[in-house]
Amino acid sequence: MRNPLIAVLTISAASLLLGASLLAQAPAAPKKAATPPKNLKVLTAENYRAGMKAAEVGLGAKCVDCHEEDRSVDTKEMKVTARMMFAMVENINKAFADSKEHVTCYTCHRGAMMPVSAPAAKE
Ligand code: HEC
Ligand code: HEC
Repeated sequence: MRNPLIAVLTISAASLLLGASLLAQAPAAPKKAATPPKNLKVLTAENYRAGMKAAEVGLGAKCVDCHEEDRSVDTKEMKVTARMMFAMVENINKAFADSKEHVTCYTCHRGAMMPVSAPAAKE
């Protein structure tokens, strides 16, 4: 007669296999249809995400500092300034012989909204 322990082990092994095959067959979670950006004037669909990261890290800014819920509208002054800054940084980097990214938002901003343009005056 078969050892009941082996039977139990066999059943749990079988259910593990079944579980694994169910997982393997589970349809991929439906992806939220990515709405393509519709109001890019400087950045591209390929690089704008990196640009947003650079703005967040470089300025310590949050998405809502520049954006409404609809990211495409230009109602916030901060966004309009940032767009000019994206263009400025692109032009600065183009001026380097190798055109590589030497200057980023962080180069001037150092994690702050307002970069410091001059050393603090001595008391
Ligand atoms: C410092 C300002 C700033 C911050 C912070 C920022 N963005 Fe942006 N974002 C912009 C600018 C400027 C553009 C437009 C760039 C252009 O015209 O090429 C833009 C464009 C976009 C777009 C494309 C919208 C469209 O349909 O045209 C999306 C999406 C977006 N940002 C998402 C985000 C998210 C998510 C965050 C936070 C993680 C974020 N942004 C943080 C300034 C910012
Ligand atoms: C060469 C230096 C430099 C670089 C690089 C730079 N900025 Fe600026 N940024 C400034 C200066 C200077 C100001 C302040 C402008 C003023 O005096 O009104 C400023 C102001 C801003 C402001 C307005 C802040 C406020 O509180 O009104 C935003 C937004 C901004 N920058 C976004 C960016 C982003 C995004 C990047 C990277 C793509 C960037 N900047 C890269 C120099 C720079």
